[in-house]
Amino acid sequence: MSETEAVRALAEQLAREAGAIQRERYETVLDVRTKSASIDLVTEVDHACEERIVGALRRERPGDAILAEEGSGADLPGAEWRWVIDPLDGTMNYAHGYPRFCVSIGVQRRGAPAVGVVYDPLLDELFAATRGGGATCNGRPIRVSAETELSRALLATGFAYDVHKSRENNLDHFATFVKQVRGLRRDGSAALDLCYVAAGRFDGFWELKLHPWDVAAGNLIVEEAGGRTSDLEGNPPSGDGRETLASNGHLHEAMVALFQR
Ligand code: IPD
Ligand code: CA
Ligand code: CA
Repeated sequence: MSETEAVRALAEQLAREAGAIQRERYETVLDVRTKSASIDLVTEVDHACEERIVGALRRERPGDAILAEEGSGADLPGAEWRWVIDPLDGTMNYAHGYPRFCVSIGVQRRGAPAVGVVYDPLLDELFAATRGGGATCNGRPIRVSAETELSRALLATGFAYDVHKSRENNLDHFATFVKQVRGLRRDGSAALDLCYVAAGRFDGFWELKLHPWDVAAGNLIVEEAGGRTSDLEGNPPSGDGRETLASNGHLHEAMVALFQR
């Protein structure tokens, strides 16, 4: 087994373990707290999932750097491998008992995306990709849609936690797109939204002010499924998630053009 295969196997195992915690605690009474804003939530399940993943990585791969959303990772300058982890993507959904959330684990090698794993524990769907190796859902190859017309497209987007206060709130883009497309969803898990683009369920997705852990796995899964990722102007994604656009490729330029309006 190559080192990349071993990293992927470990990422899949840890995503399943964290997903099992989410499944067990789903629809139980949770301690819900707020972070950056009154609508930015965190629960003990976010922390339990992160502890499970980061604890295992410290034991199994002590030389790797870790960026984890709830802050328990540690950067190791010069490390060859870097794990970028969202232990629970879709916390608001989770806290409300809305069944759409996941674990997202992206792994970079020398700064480039190498492995991406996203696990939806309720549907038991594991999306995964290795750079150059294609993308799969539960082991079966997945591919972006073939749709070429925005008027027939089903898109997804999301709103950042500063939506109540910021003028850069995505409502302008939402208003533009909703009049051009067949359907537009706001489903509350950016990592799953990206995987749904990869699987051809959505034809495109965009969001502003995401973070590295939201997109580290999903962007690679989209690209390996034949799709395209970029910033809103069509430039290669910076990796920080602040401007995230993903599509089946065919619709990319049309979407970029609508952001310039
Ligand atoms: C959030 C979700 C949501 C997106 C937010 C993210 P979290 O992640 O991905 O869909 O709209 O911008 O922050 O906080 O549930 O991990
Ligand atoms: Ca997230
Ligand atoms: Ca999260």
